[in-house]
Amino acid sequence: MKKLLKAIPLMLVVLMLTAIVSACGNSGSKVDVGIVLPTKDEPRWVQDEQRFKDELKGTKYSVEILFSQGSSAKEKENVDSLIAKGIKVLIISPQDGDAAAASVEAAQKAGIKVISYDRLITNTDAVDYYVTFDSVAVGKAQAQYLVDNAKGSGQPLYLYAGAASDNNAFLFFEGAWTVLQPKIADGTFKIANSSEAVTLQDKAELSREELSKIISQVTTNWDPSEAKNKAQTHLTAAAADQKGDVAILAPNDGTARSIADVFATDSAITSFVVTGQDAEKASIQYVIDGKQSMTVFKDVRNLVKDAMGMAVTILDGKEPETTGSYNNGKVDVQAKQTDVIVVDKDNVKASLIDSKYYEASEFTGL
Ligand code: GAL
Repeated sequence: MKKLLKAIPLMLVVLMLTAIVSACGNSGSKVDVGIVLPTKDEPRWVQDEQRFKDELKGTKYSVEILFSQGSSAKEKENVDSLIAKGIKVLIISPQDGDAAAASVEAAQKAGIKVISYDRLITNTDAVDYYVTFDSVAVGKAQAQYLVDNAKGSGQPLYLYAGAASDNNAFLFFEGAWTVLQPKIADGTFKIANSSEAVTLQDKAELSREELSKIISQVTTNWDPSEAKNKAQTHLTAAAADQKGDVAILAPNDGTARSIADVFATDSAITSFVVTGQDAEKASIQYVIDGKQSMTVFKDVRNLVKDAMGMAVTILDGKEPETTGSYNNGKVDVQAKQTDVIVVDKDNVKASLIDSKYYEASEFTGL
């Protein structure tokens, strides 16, 4: 009994300590800004994570970055857990633009401001802001590169697109089409791998539904192995006059490299020009080595700055600045847009090394 009495104060102290520690734990897990990115499987998003981490070094706000690993269900879980941690601002790049509506509607209900990051969340009014690169300009730049490097007339043109669940895939393709279509109409290019695109080749402007028909046929789903399989299938089916010197619209770097590898092993392909996007390290090496013709450099440092700048402005109770708007199928979302840079062998050093985006030592043969 005596022992027990003696033990009581000790037990109380232990209990109190436990309470204090767990209270600290709770406040420790309080988060101001939640960031949700689509997947670590595409190097593009690992770049974004790194640039966010660099940018966050100086902030007084607490931030947590979560990845959805290609799953809208996981994305919803991520958003719910951030809501539970009391975030005030959500920066989110959706895996699937439509499917993410449920997540951001839950955030909106909790009084959280939502910033769509790089990819627009579609068909919901629960998106407050959009920070993005000029995605139509990305597609235009890719197409212009093919036009500038076209050889002769009737050159076979192979078209590939991103994932139909990603609104950007539409913007990229729409941009590319506005530049390519007149060059298909005037006989410079001849579409080699898409019956849907051939059906629409006389139309200068395509509706979302028409774009969707082509994209569904030539999608890579942003997946290099799907891109590789499609390229192999296309080359197997291609007639002799669809080979020789060819032009290839590849939507991003990961798919560009695998498509380029396939075209490089076909002895009936004399030469090819292939586009890309994201300035992934592996593709910069490909550009230096002459295996990929170009990439579109999206300086993620700028996008990260814009997104965090906006978040901090909101946390400070002020209204962020925007430069335009994007319709997401339901509402016009106020947007801040940033430019892109075309990179090929000629300016790879100036644009990526001199700007300190990458270090020269990360490449060979520069
Ligand atoms: C897009 C993004 C591109 C590219 C692609 C594949 O939405 O804008 O930069 O990374 O996804 O992940």
